[in-house]
Amino acid sequence: MNEHNVIPDNWYEDAFGELYSIVYAHRSVASALPEAAFAARATGLNPKDRLLDLCCGTGRHLANLLQNGGGVSLCGFDYSPELLAQAQKNTRGLVPLIRGDMRALPFQNTFSVVFNFFTSFGYFMEDSENEKALLQMEAAMLPGGRFFFDYLNPDQIEARLVPESTRESKGYLIHEKRWIDEHTKRINKNIIVERDGQIIGKNSESVRMYALDELKAMLLRAGLHIRQVWGDYDASPYDTLSPRMLVLGCKDAS
Ligand SMILES: C[S@@+](CC[C@H](N)C(=O)[O-])C[C@H]1O[C@@H](n2cnc3c(N)ncnc32)[C@H](O)[C@@H]1O
Repeated sequence: MNEHNVIPDNWYEDAFGELYSIVYAHRSVASALPEAAFAARATGLNPKDRLLDLCCGTGRHLANLLQNGGGVSLCGFDYSPELLAQAQKNTRGLVPLIRGDMRALPFQNTFSVVFNFFTSFGYFMEDSENEKALLQMEAAMLPGGRFFFDYLNPDQIEARLVPESTRESKGYLIHEKRWIDEHTKRINKNIIVERDGQIIGKNSESVRMYALDELKAMLLRAGLHIRQVWGDYDASPYDTLSPRMLVLGCKDAS
């Protein structure tokens, strides 16, 4: 495995299956609690809102919003049948969950709030395809709607890149190799999961690292405006070494 490895264009179709829940076991319902609370505060979430968790995965943020969201109407959307099945359990069948591709959302002028957590953007190889996801998000929102976007910080990724690591999760060994492709501006990762000396699965990930200015321009073209940016869930300011790029924004009121 080296940096000349080719990651398939449609890597996201396979990367969010059973293996994902082993590799990201620490991304639990409990760890999502402060994130959901932060996004709810940032967007001024209130019981009249209709909220879409775009790329909801296992529904870990929805589960918290169900508990603490004051009765706000919730909906989850994701591509992975495996993670949606988990979301169904985590939300006790109380939240509508819809399967599909973020580039073709089945909603028009429907939601007053959209959340997008844990780097669920920049997956497609073409910028125009990533932009399509933002256009679809805008179309799904009501005029004046708010969105919260939890995305990676490209500068921090570049400064802190760990090219190779091995860790243990739920009795499995997770080997991860990471590299940045300067040409495509993507952070790529190859993952091997091992148990008792046997390889039980492999995954690849590849995310376009949009700088804040690039994201801002893409959002603007989609009719969405940034209102505030933080560097992490402790509300610290965004800078080159911030762990995250947390963006609060809105759609025009008319
Ligand atoms: C990094 S996970 C984050 C999941 C969730 N937001 C969380 O915080 O746990 C990215 C999610 O995007 C979903 N996804 C990947 N490609 C997608 C696509 N083309 N359309 C919709 N969802 C997609 C995956 O299935 C996965 O649940």
